[in-house]
Amino acid sequence: MSTIKHPRKPGSVRLAIIGTGGMANVHAEKFAAIKGCRVVAACDIQATRAQAFAEKHGIPQAFADVGEMLRSVEIDAVSVVTPDAAHLPISLQCLKAGKHVLCEKPLALNAKDAAKMVAAASKAGVVNMVNFSYRDWPCIQAAALAVKRGEIGEVRHVEASYLQAWLASKVWGDWRTNPAWLWRLSSAHGSMGVLGDVGVHIIDYATFPAGPLREVYCRLQTFPKIPGERIGEYHLDANDSATLNVEFANGALGVIHVTRWAPGHANRLALKICGTLGTLDLDSDRGTDVYRICRGRDLDTCAWREIRCKPVANNYSRFITAIRSGCGGDPDFARGAEIQRVLDAAFASDAKRAPVRL
Ligand SMILES: NC(=O)c1ccc[n+]([C@@H]2O[C@H](COP(=O)([O-])OP(=O)(O)OC[C@H]3O[C@@H](n4cnc5c(N)ncnc54)[C@H](O)[C@@H]3O)[C@@H](O)[C@H]2O)c1
Repeated sequence: MSTIKHPRKPGSVRLAIIGTGGMANVHAEKFAAIKGCRVVAACDIQATRAQAFAEKHGIPQAFADVGEMLRSVEIDAVSVVTPDAAHLPISLQCLKAGKHVLCEKPLALNAKDAAKMVAAASKAGVVNMVNFSYRDWPCIQAAALAVKRGEIGEVRHVEASYLQAWLASKVWGDWRTNPAWLWRLSSAHGSMGVLGDVGVHIIDYATFPAGPLREVYCRLQTFPKIPGERIGEYHLDANDSATLNVEFANGALGVIHVTRWAPGHANRLALKICGTLGTLDLDSDRGTDVYRICRGRDLDTCAWREIRCKPVANNYSRFITAIRSGCGGDPDFARGAEIQRVLDAAFASDAKRAPVRL
């Protein structure tokens, strides 16, 4: 978290959404619900898509070019919701123009690019955040606090998984016919597979409460999907399953795994953090505002208590609050870059079938 050079004076934060596909709808709805924020422009390289999105969400102006938008409309901040490969150039362009930036995850395609974004954001002195959206769940914020307070003692062992089902089902429609899924399967379209897509979420989810990693041993797999492994311009070569054996900086061990081949789990994040004094257990299939804990007098009977967690501000509202207050914004680009370094190490580890130090 950092202090920014130019906090916004009282008045609405004027925001533009760049990239108006599926996830942009969530951004438009969340920002519209925040007092003191107005979405004043939408931009997409597909002009008709930007226009339709603007009409749907009551956004006054639509553009097909980021530069033209920055020249023509007064904005304070942008949210970058394009496919991953465009995060770097668009963020740099907007930071150069002095705009606060909320960028979708993964921050970039590699740690070197992520570092460029951190440096540019720091030079611009603006609020910079990466949308690790599961930080919005009350259970993870409460769990992080519980670990910090020492409720489970020293962390010794971590089990984290992110399971999706969309390659093995039509739970989110037919991936074979939808470009929003197809680019996620193609490295030529800037995808880093399931590891880059949602692996970043679970790495953040595990290390936010449990602390940083110092070693990663990763295996990636890309399973056959259709004859020829190609649909139109999309070569289906990006990984769909990843397992990481990890060592935390404090010596704790862990396993983090992620797949798009988990029938029965549309979108499930699970995390167990075992410490010297107890264990925390989070499972989104049970609820995102609740976790279980075993500690104290429950240790010897292995009994669990359920803890209900208070609502927390979401990333969108933390972004606007940071702009208005001039202070911080978490998770920031530096955190995005830290996760990106883990990703780079994971890819290097898979390539040489050996552990990689961070
Ligand atoms: N935080 C989360 O939980 C979450 C969830 C889903 C997606 N995402 C992220 O959001 C981003 C977008 O994902 P999506 O599912 O909305 O993809 P999508 O394919 O549905 O939409 C992307 C849009 O960006 C546009 N675009 C492409 N290049 C552009 C450019 N240079 N300038 C302007 N517009 C451009 C495309 O035309 C498309 O309309 C990805 O980085 C993805 O990882 C995050």
